[in-house]
Amino acid sequence: MNERRRPDFSLDNFHGIISGSPQMRRLFTLIERVAVSEASVLLRGETGTGKELAAAAIHRLSPRYARAFQAVNCATLTPELAASELFGHIRGAFTGAIAHRKGIFEVADNGTIFLDEVAELGVEIQGRLLRVLQERTFVPVGAVESRRVDIRLIAATHKSLREEVEAKRFREDLMYRIRVVPLFIPPLVERDGDLEALTWTFIDEFNQKSGRHIQSISGDAWDAMQSYWWPGNVRELRNAIEYAFAIGEGPSLGAEDLPPELRGEIPPKRLMLRHATHHLAPTGIESPSDLRASEELERGMIVEALQRANGSKSGAAEQLGISRTTLWRKMRELRLLNGPHSQD
Ligand SMILES: Nc1ncnc2c1ncn2[C@@H]1O[C@H](COP(=O)(O)OP(=O)(O)O)[C@@H](O)[C@H]1O
Ligand SMILES: [Mg+2]
Repeated sequence: MNERRRPDFSLDNFHGIISGSPQMRRLFTLIERVAVSEASVLLRGETGTGKELAAAAIHRLSPRYARAFQAVNCATLTPELAASELFGHIRGAFTGAIAHRKGIFEVADNGTIFLDEVAELGVEIQGRLLRVLQERTFVPVGAVESRRVDIRLIAATHKSLREEVEAKRFREDLMYRIRVVPLFIPPLVERDGDLEALTWTFIDEFNQKSGRHIQSISGDAWDAMQSYWWPGNVRELRNAIEYAFAIGEGPSLGAEDLPPELRGEIPPKRLMLRHATHHLAPTGIESPSDLRASEELERGMIVEALQRANGSKSGAAEQLGISRTTLWRKMRELRLLNGPHSQD
């Protein structure tokens, strides 16, 4: 197996987002354009794809760059505390409110607010948030008078807000308010060349700050990295490299240096969770042998669909009623890529 060494790259570092892929370059262009406007941006992408980095980049490129950038993770806001966290409270507003406290909206006045995991906002606070966005005023908890506020909103979610709306967990009117410009951040496995580019970027980083000095990646390790689906995206990749630096030794990164999930040692239950989210897998699978059976079934269905579509992934995806991306990911999981059917 061939050892891989660091190739020559020309990489972009777009406000901390490192990439050499056309997919991300397109996103950078969109970010540059939307940043100078006042439009509300909704960043959609899996965990670890760089949503927070993208939000910060938008703020930095905007006319508000010298003002505050306030990030709040909506998943951590309890229904009781959300209003006070966002809009502040006056002294005596509730038991324990011993002093006036500024909320995020007040602190970020004239700046940008980043609502991370916005789909997790409670329904009650969604209504209050909508009013603030519409009227550009807010009332601190316990206060009577409203205050004017001028903020630019960026939100992020790994969920489909439309599906949340359909499930009645998210207000439709609020969705339209925050999703004026939706930007999709592609998962790591869909960025051409970025797995390798970022792997070496992180190896360079840890070469500088650890005792180990990695100069090459073994063929086995690279195979494992390439066929893994990276559900935690760039964050997970960086962690995996850090793990290799901590666990392994010597100048070559070997497969045994990689975290267990890359070595195919994850318990089958975990594997199933993601199968359950797609259309192909039968539900209610319990035992590992059932799982293997379901994988075999999927493999058979995919291979057949590909044959019928003369090897075209788009055609096969259409037949299977799944997106091309899902098909591609499944093929990667089932190690069907680089096989006889990977022409397109
Ligand atoms: N393209 C990238 N280049 C370098 N580091 C990245 C990139 N994308 C993400 N990261 C790093 O990965 C981690 C997760 O990024 P973050 O913006 O918090 O993702 P998200 O908000 O989508 O979960 C952070 O440590 C971030 O610095
Ligand atoms: Mg995040």
